[in-house]
Amino acid sequence: MRSIVFLVALLGFFNNVIAKPLEGTKQFSDDFFNESDLKGQPELQELIKQRPNPWEMRQAYGVKRQLKTFPCPDAADIAPCICYTDERDLLHLDCSLVPTEKYLETIFQQNFPVKHFQSFDLFDNSHITTLGDIFNGLTFVEVFVERCVNLREISQYWLADSRDTLVYLSIANTSLTSDAFPFISMDSYTRLEALFVPTNDFTFIPPIHSATIQGVAFESGMISVIEPDTFSNLPNLTYIGLSQNNLTSLAASTFVFSGVDHVLIYIYLYSNQLQHLEPGVFSVQGHPQNVTMRLHLENNKLRTVDEEVFRPIMPYLEFVQLFDNPLECGCDIVWLLLNPTYLDKVDPRAACSDGTLLTDLDLADYESFCSIPASH
Ligand SMILES: *[C@@H]1O[C@H](CO)[C@@H](O)[C@H](O)[C@H]1NC(C)=O
Ligand SMILES: *[C@@H]1O[C@H](CO)[C@@H](O)[C@H](O)[C@H]1NC(C)=O
Ligand SMILES: *[C@@H]1O[C@H](CO)[C@@H](O)[C@H](O)[C@H]1NC(C)=O
Ligand SMILES: *[C@@H]1O[C@H](CO)[C@@H](O)[C@H](O)[C@H]1NC(C)=O
Ligand SMILES: *[C@@H]1O[C@H](CO)[C@@H](O)[C@H](O)[C@H]1NC(C)=O
Repeated sequence: MRSIVFLVALLGFFNNVIAKPLEGTKQFSDDFFNESDLKGQPELQELIKQRPNPWEMRQAYGVKRQLKTFPCPDAADIAPCICYTDERDLLHLDCSLVPTEKYLETIFQQNFPVKHFQSFDLFDNSHITTLGDIFNGLTFVEVFVERCVNLREISQYWLADSRDTLVYLSIANTSLTSDAFPFISMDSYTRLEALFVPTNDFTFIPPIHSATIQGVAFESGMISVIEPDTFSNLPNLTYIGLSQNNLTSLAASTFVFSGVDHVLIYIYLYSNQLQHLEPGVFSVQGHPQNVTMRLHLENNKLRTVDEEVFRPIMPYLEFVQLFDNPLECGCDIVWLLLNPTYLDKVDPRAACSDGTLLTDLDLADYESFCSIPASH
């Protein structure tokens, strides 16, 4: 280490702040978080909702976690990073307290007897501004970089050594812009299933390529455009989180699902500014078996439930959430109102702009005054 004095000061900090939870006697329930949930067809939506703050999650593991001399490196060599094993003998590395990227890089020059880790954590760190090619041969299954509010750039190669191990990448609440995030390297990870990158400074998402990604999350940002090719190179995608962004319209072929059997598709678009959905924006192709779609469009600016947009996906929809949209409820929705099977799939809170629930509309009036379109 370059500065002994600095290291000693840091170790004091480490002992005071971090050692305490390790010695805690508090019991955490076992159903806290189970990483095996990430395997197979993941219920990613449940996961993102139920997953506690990962920092707390690690602390919870910390009750049972063990600081071992092997397989961990010498604790002093890597301080303020903490290496530990959990009750399943998986190895974790938490570097939340590092003061600079350079310091982090120096830590990875130390002797690591075992180079494969389950997770790398970097939480609540306001010092780190860039993450370059630092890991020096260490590999990870899960990487969490969260609430690092001054992080502005990540190198395309920073996780190159984890190309065959990385399954779950979560980078949230940073100052990363779309140009500073390595979207371009996603196709180099041969096992990546989840790209969870909410609450960053993204304004657009470039095309992402990956044969393996099943879930992407971009909630709570300033994204105003999604191009039809953004997700078109993700054949295994079944979970898309885009809620709480600034989307105003979506073009045809933005969300196309083909060749995926036996899947539950989640599309989260609530709390945007959506006014216009082009026909074909959601489509399921190739008559796959047993595909169910849950579509969240609540709290947008939609004035109609366009037959051309929604009728083609009705066979697949489990439900569509449409409440908090200023629906005009003219003859444009008669196709929906007069088909009980379809109407059943619309969440009952859906209402017209005057507050009348769709389910309370007088269907006889619609039958008399709107000419019913020929059945398809
Ligand atoms: C995690 O889930 C798997 C499969 O559902 C189960 O077999 C295992 O016991 C769980 N582990 C914990 C620690 O709850
Ligand atoms: C982002 O991080 C900052 C600083 O830690 C925190 O104050 C803020 O609540 C976080 N926002 C979210 C959405 O997590
Ligand atoms: C696609 O996802 C399924 C689970 O839904 C998985 O079994 C399959 O291996 C994945 N395909 C690729 C190429 O990763
Ligand atoms: C949302 O998008 C509009 C243009 O479509 C832009 O004028 C506005 O500044 C954006 N708002 C945010 C918070 O990015
Ligand atoms: C349908 O797919 C779901 C996964 O989304 C699966 O759990 C279920 O067993 C499948 N049902 C049939 C009849 O294949």
